[in-house]
Amino acid sequence: MLVSYQVSSRVHSLMKRSHRKVVWKGARVWITGASTGIGRALAKELASCGAHLAITSRRTDVLEEVVGEICSAGGQAQAYAGDVTDADAMAEIAAAISQNWGGIDVLIANAGTHIPSEPLQFDSRQYQDLMQINYGGVLHCIEAVLPGMKAQGHGHIVGVASLAGYRALPTASAYGASKAALIHFLQSLRFHLEHESIAVTVINPGFVRTPLTDKNDFRMPCLIEASDAASRIRRALERGKRDVAFPAPFSWVISLFRIIPMPLYACILRRIWKKK
Ligand SMILES: NC(=O)c1ccc[n+]([C@@H]2O[C@H](COP(=O)([O-])OP(=O)(O)OC[C@H]3O[C@@H](n4cnc5c(N)ncnc54)[C@H](OP(=O)(O)O)[C@@H]3O)[C@@H](O)[C@H]2O)c1
Repeated sequence: MLVSYQVSSRVHSLMKRSHRKVVWKGARVWITGASTGIGRALAKELASCGAHLAITSRRTDVLEEVVGEICSAGGQAQAYAGDVTDADAMAEIAAAISQNWGGIDVLIANAGTHIPSEPLQFDSRQYQDLMQINYGGVLHCIEAVLPGMKAQGHGHIVGVASLAGYRALPTASAYGASKAALIHFLQSLRFHLEHESIAVTVINPGFVRTPLTDKNDFRMPCLIEASDAASRIRRALERGKRDVAFPAPFSWVISLFRIIPMPLYACILRRIWKKK
């Protein structure tokens, strides 16, 4: 009886921890990939809710422009330029933010890119480079914030993956592989970090209008604006969601694709692909 009570109260406390919600007012948030697209829209959205923003990407001039926009709207933001593929640079940035603010509450590892795969002109170096940004870059940022989050006894790690990581898609082999790796890694990490009171959230957007998708030459179903994506991410974090996929109903279809048997999935994809 006592054992069963201890087990159930432990499960209850783990569930409570794993559903911890984010309160933005005064939260110290580091967002990577904030110079354009989803990251930029999210930085502005969270700053307008009272969060203190540290924003990173490679282009200093564009980052300063975002800081200017946030500060002139009454928010708080600082730019820390750097390349996420450089582990030392990410460690230095995390240390600088922590020194300035005394810690980091939320990391939003959003920096990423997409290069359409042309498997018949196989270029392993290009695929590895993409992996270094979309997957390796997130690992570098987590490595940089984790000791501080453990020491302060709380934290929240948010990774921006993609619905493209759910199942194999033509032309997205390298991009999809990097996002599938990210989803798998973050969901696995969550098991370990919930014991440290550090939450892990995976964000899986569908098509969002940004410089990344502006390059696409096909019709993108259920395309949404970056500001819409940003407010969906904010609301999901406020509600304590851990696996976030949008926009519905597109995300429901892709989620269904994830569980149907491979021969059926391949048959459907070949038909869609033939029509293009
Ligand atoms: N748009 C979509 O439909 C969609 C869908 C699903 C998932 N996503 C994911 O959402 C995230 C944001 O994408 P987005 O659509 O907003 O694209 P975007 O507008 O092209 O933004 C990408 C951001 O990442 C930064 N970045 C790229 N490489 C970097 C590097 N090596 N080091 C540091 N920063 C780097 C870019 O800034 P600099 O060039 O200044 O470095 C930029 O701020 C990506 O992870 C993407 O895979 C997008």
